[in-house]
Amino acid sequence: MRKLADSEPRLRKSVCLKVPKQYGEKTLALANGLKILNNRIEIQRDQDFVYVPLLRKPSGDESEDLKQQIADYKLVAHIFPERKKREPSIAELLENRLPPHLFAGLPHSADFVGDIAIIEVSPELETYKNLIGEAILKTNKNVRTVLAKAGAVSGTYRVREFSIIAGEVRTETIHKEYGSQYYVDVAKAYFSPRLSYEHNRVASLVKEGETVIDLFSGVGPFAIQIAKNHEKVKVYAVDANPHAIEYLKRNIRLNRVGEKVHPILGDARQVIDEELSGVADRVIMNLPEKAIEFVDTSCKAMKPSGGIAHFYCFVNASDSLDNVKGRFVEAVEKCGKKAEILFFRRVRATAPYEWQIVLDARIH
Ligand SMILES: C[S@@+](CC[C@H](N)C(=O)[O-])C[C@H]1O[C@@H](n2cnc3c(N)ncnc32)[C@H](O)[C@@H]1O
Repeated sequence: MRKLADSEPRLRKSVCLKVPKQYGEKTLALANGLKILNNRIEIQRDQDFVYVPLLRKPSGDESEDLKQQIADYKLVAHIFPERKKREPSIAELLENRLPPHLFAGLPHSADFVGDIAIIEVSPELETYKNLIGEAILKTNKNVRTVLAKAGAVSGTYRVREFSIIAGEVRTETIHKEYGSQYYVDVAKAYFSPRLSYEHNRVASLVKEGETVIDLFSGVGPFAIQIAKNHEKVKVYAVDANPHAIEYLKRNIRLNRVGEKVHPILGDARQVIDEELSGVADRVIMNLPEKAIEFVDTSCKAMKPSGGIAHFYCFVNASDSLDNVKGRFVEAVEKCGKKAEILFFRRVRATAPYEWQIVLDARIH
């Protein structure tokens, strides 16, 4: 999630009154009274002096006025940061258009997938969602479409419904992360910009020469990042969702990794049983709801000498990380192998008191 709207200050050269710092306040008041104070750039201070920016040089009479009150002022040119041009907030844009008690519920952040902003609109703001969408378009110049979540991520394909509340009528875009680009249709195949660090983290652990199986690849952000980061890798990217595989194929072309990434449409268990037993140095299991049910498949996919598993799951406040580790180790032992946990981390919060976590483990 990223905060909505921001802007950077620019530098600007301006004529100003340079005065010893004890005269700062007085000079400001004088310049303001003479209507020559430049309010659009910020006053600067150093150890000894204050620099009061002016709209123009003072006229002869104005200089006389100034001299009488502040004997040792100097007229100089100075570099000032422009006052941060503050974009109006969504709340300011909606002033007078929403009942006051609803302002507290306005969204403060969004997921940005390419040029699409995705927000959650609370039920009481439902009737105002188009106005909110328009305000987001106005305050975020790179956004062309605003979507509101219209349900939870669900089903085998892990997708959710959206309503288009402002901008261009589409759910497809191109998303960039860590130098790779992805065609994504958020309504047809799973994609989350909140996993970008994780995609890159796993890619950076892969060694040259490895064979990797991405068991639940979606549109390919793990598989493609691995292929982009390494010369000699073979990545099998499996997904049951035909849309995900279609987008994966486009993304393989877009990122020119056709020699290294091999897309396979199908059920992960069946694909491993029928085509890919005993080949992998590394298996990525990013299906947090159900990955535990695929530990046997993952073990089967690995070379007889073993390999590394990246196992994702959800954990809530009533569960514990030790329980998760225990369940994973037990599932591996049921396959006649041993698991050595190498690393774990919380990937992101998914609900109040619920997190997605990852375990990296060596399977012996
Ligand atoms: C959480 S998404 C992960 C997407 C991708 N790894 C990423 O980081 O964007 C899980 C994916 O698993 C796929 N999936 C679910 N059950 C599956 C199965 N039995 N076999 C293969 N893929 C499956 C879904 O279609 C979905 O694209």
